[in-house]
Amino acid sequence: GGVTTIDAGFKNTSSCKSAITFLDGEKGILRYRGYAIEELAEKADFLEVSYLLIFGELPTKAQNDKFHRDIQKQSLVDTDVKKILDGFPKTAHPMGVVSALTSALTAFNAKSVNVDSEEEMYDAVVKILAKLPVLASWAYRKEEGLPLEYGDSSLGYVENFLKMMFDLPNEEYKSNPVIVEALDKLLILHADHEQNCSTSTVRVAGSSHAGLFASISAGISALWGPLHGGANQAVIEMLEAIKEDGGGYEKYIEKAKDKNDPFRLMGFGHRVYKNFDPRAKIIKVAADEVLADLGIEDPVLDIARGLADVALNDEYFKSRNLYPNVDFYSGIIYRALGIPIPMFTVMFAIGRLPGWIAQWREMRLNKEPIGRPRQVYVGATERPFVDVEKR
Ligand code: CMC
Repeated sequence: GGVTTIDAGFKNTSSCKSAITFLDGEKGILRYRGYAIEELAEKADFLEVSYLLIFGELPTKAQNDKFHRDIQKQSLVDTDVKKILDGFPKTAHPMGVVSALTSALTAFNAKSVNVDSEEEMYDAVVKILAKLPVLASWAYRKEEGLPLEYGDSSLGYVENFLKMMFDLPNEEYKSNPVIVEALDKLLILHADHEQNCSTSTVRVAGSSHAGLFASISAGISALWGPLHGGANQAVIEMLEAIKEDGGGYEKYIEKAKDKNDPFRLMGFGHRVYKNFDPRAKIIKVAADEVLADLGIEDPVLDIARGLADVALNDEYFKSRNLYPNVDFYSGIIYRALGIPIPMFTVMFAIGRLPGWIAQWREMRLNKEPIGRPRQVYVGATERPFVDVEKR
């Protein structure tokens, strides 16, 4: 008996029950474990949000401190992983490098593959939270031809990542909370988004009981594409191209509307948000603040604002409910913080990591069956084999 229903792109199929993230696309509501994204972005830090997503409750002070300490203790990466890094060309995209190195971590942490007990799970969770930012900073420094940096355990999670990236003196972060706070906020906004493409990938890969690191590596690969996390890089490249082209964005809007042209307005539209993306609202304000605080004038922000204004009043975009999404403004902030364009999607991966972990853990604790969709076969019916000489 064949299955006859198809839902290409799973537009109307729930793959699981989940208690992690609530999203109402019509009303533009996003909540992690019941807490409004607006409130978390304002009041919590990224590590607290990670704990909340993964374990279900905001940590007490003691739980938070322990979580941070446990992560710090695991923040060394085997030096042999550096040899793998050395094998990549300088021109390699950091997403490919980070995905490969994350998968390679499995080989260096064999015990993290079979994670049946809560303790083993906790150990794997802490390890990947500790090591992904290290791998990300290495991928960046390799590309820039800079020596690799280790972190400093006296710093917070986000400060420490910036330290590994840019090797600035600690005082620099302490004296300039704007950078740390902006990055912290961006990571929180990206931390989970229920059953999106990369998260579904992590859950499906993990449903075969492949290890956590292998499942996360699969998620990083899924995130890379320009229709998903790769949109943040694609947005800034689009805005740059418009700037180079003299700043007139009307032409690009027309291109995006032309059904014979594959061009899409990057950073616009969303599978679920059909009213507005609440994350984009927060990021737009944050982008203004960060640029003002750092005293940066970025003509690309003006292009972004103008483009959004025109598109939001255009019948094509209005009738299809296409609004700026989380990635429309994020690249402008990343750039102001000194993060190069190819690293934008890696930043998204660091932000999404706790969500992937939380969803993977939920899937394992709920003892979900292996993810194995059906299909509707439309190929040839049975036919006899023809020898190669007779074809
Ligand atoms: N520019 C122009 N037209 C668009 C766009 C766009 N950015 N997005 C959707 N449309 C049109 C699309 O052509 C279709 O028109 P029609 O009904 O005439 O055929 C209609 O809007 C519906 O689009 P869809 O492709 O069926 O919608 P989807 O839910 O499959 O795709 C999306 C959602 C996010 C992949 C898509 O809007 C898109 O490609 N956006 C640009 C890439 C982007 O910004 N991605 C980041 C998403 S948010 C962060 C993340 O998830 O990583």
